[in-house]
Amino acid sequence: MTDTIHVSVAWPYANGDLHVGHLAGAYLPADIFARYHRLKGSRVLMVSGSDSHGTPITVEADKRGQTPRQVFEHYHRRFLETQQAIGISYDLFTHTDTENHHRIAQDFFRALQRNEYLYRDTQRQLYSESEKRFLPDRYVEGTCPICGYDGARGDQCDRCGSLLDALDLINPRSKTDGSPPIIRETEHFFLDLGAFADRLLPYLEAHADRWRPNVVRFTRNYIEGGLKGRPVTRDIEWGIPVPHEGWEQKRLYVWFEAVMGYFTASVEWAHNSGRPEAWKDWWYDPQARIYNFIGKDNIPFHTVIWQAELLGVDRIYDDDASRHLNLPFDVPANEFMNVEGQKFSKSRNWAVWLPDILSRYDPDPIRYYVTCVMPESHDSDFSWADFVRRNNDELVATWGNLANRVLSFAYKHWEGVVPDPGDLRPIDRELLALIETGFQTVGEHLEAVRLRAALGEAIGLARQVNVYLDRAPWFSIVKQDKAAAATTVYTALRAIDNLKVLLAPFLPFTSERLNLLLGYQQPIFGDIQIASFAEEARTHEALVYDASRAAGRWAPGDLRPGQRLQPPAPLYKKLDDSIVEQERARLGQPLD
Ligand code: MF3
Ligand code: ZN
Repeated sequence: MTDTIHVSVAWPYANGDLHVGHLAGAYLPADIFARYHRLKGSRVLMVSGSDSHGTPITVEADKRGQTPRQVFEHYHRRFLETQQAIGISYDLFTHTDTENHHRIAQDFFRALQRNEYLYRDTQRQLYSESEKRFLPDRYVEGTCPICGYDGARGDQCDRCGSLLDALDLINPRSKTDGSPPIIRETEHFFLDLGAFADRLLPYLEAHADRWRPNVVRFTRNYIEGGLKGRPVTRDIEWGIPVPHEGWEQKRLYVWFEAVMGYFTASVEWAHNSGRPEAWKDWWYDPQARIYNFIGKDNIPFHTVIWQAELLGVDRIYDDDASRHLNLPFDVPANEFMNVEGQKFSKSRNWAVWLPDILSRYDPDPIRYYVTCVMPESHDSDFSWADFVRRNNDELVATWGNLANRVLSFAYKHWEGVVPDPGDLRPIDRELLALIETGFQTVGEHLEAVRLRAALGEAIGLARQVNVYLDRAPWFSIVKQDKAAAATTVYTALRAIDNLKVLLAPFLPFTSERLNLLLGYQQPIFGDIQIASFAEEARTHEALVYDASRAAGRWAPGDLRPGQRLQPPAPLYKKLDDSIVEQERARLGQPLD
């Protein structure tokens, strides 16, 4: 049976470059998972885009003296280039300022209103007399009423993760000028979260075995703490207009509409692909599985708010009353990745920025290292010394050298073709059988989103090929007994051919190259391209993945004797220890 898999990836705010925290938190795990499923032959739809609205963008625009649109367009373009370079294979990476997203978000709002999950209420809100405007939550700072942290933002506390109401902050102050705001009344639409508690909690409990413990714990506490209605409109200028008469000056709250992007981007993808109804396979088929790849600070928005929106809308753009929008099947949230033992900080420039690291290192070594230390169950650390060590001692020594040694040897002694093995010996059969178990064992880890374990398992198998080559005759006997050497080299090539697939979700660029070196014409994966899409008034650029090319290769291959090899070349480079100090010295330096 073909699985139908939706990979919904958190939408990065387009207010700054991407860094390894983003990569480790959401994009790389999502990409590994999506590539695995494509290899397995599943129908995959992986979407995301730039989160272009909300105060994170306006704060940055104010700081630069630019418009919010200028800021988001600048970073959106960079997101496309960066993610293409590191190989994040979105079927579509779009943004939230498309006409498509605006229209559908407004339709979601209307559906929620029609189904009576939105109510109007006046809200007391912080108002700045000096600036003569309501202060968005992010423009206010103060002490967290829950944990006492002094730098809590009005919307969320970065220390304890609690979602806050800016009015509950102790000693609030305006982030713009430090002045204490006053309280004023304003009217908003509220999402009646409480109405969903009796459906959200059983859904959570039904998935508690599969979901990561931190996701379950956080969500259970949040729901059991009592769900209050949350305002979903804002008194700001930048964003999607509220589609209700007399409310055109107000905007939809950014989180209310950004999560809808998983849905709106699916519709856009279907439209762009010329099959406008195709999105329904992922959103209405009860067998389809939706995975939300996010960082832990986004948990409540996905396990509660987004789910409430889906339950509240129930059905849209479809007349079949038996259909209901699918909820996320799993929300494999990652923890945070620190850098050299310290928390990421944009203001202190304590970060490994992706455009920067990609200017000096190849994508696969970065992907390899970040997967090895992926924060799946605890915060983890990006350390340059560890990056160099794992590159040299694992990626190069265990895998790269193995592939290169065997390919070079075969190329040199058998006129550039895969040698004929003759009869395999028990030692050869044992190795091949062992490697082939990887499609099961690595696959099971990937299926359960245990990506570190999956990669460890695959590299462990590569290590076994090295052990095999220490035992089986090849190097020393090629002159005396070429037939025996051929058996060994064929066996090793065949093992490498399978490892290439087992490692492909993690190391797509070098697996693709190895595939060519082994003499195959058909690429493993499709290309990721930047494409341009015209709507009525404006045109936007997006990443698109060519899904017509890879499929159904997650199975033992049958490397043919006689297949012509390409001239061998190393897949990876050894890194010099001196880079550790050089790279550390960049941390915390002011950005120009
Ligand atoms: N922009 C948010 C952030 O960077 C994530 C939004 S995820 C979404 O934290 F799905 F809501 F878009
Ligand atoms: Zn707190």
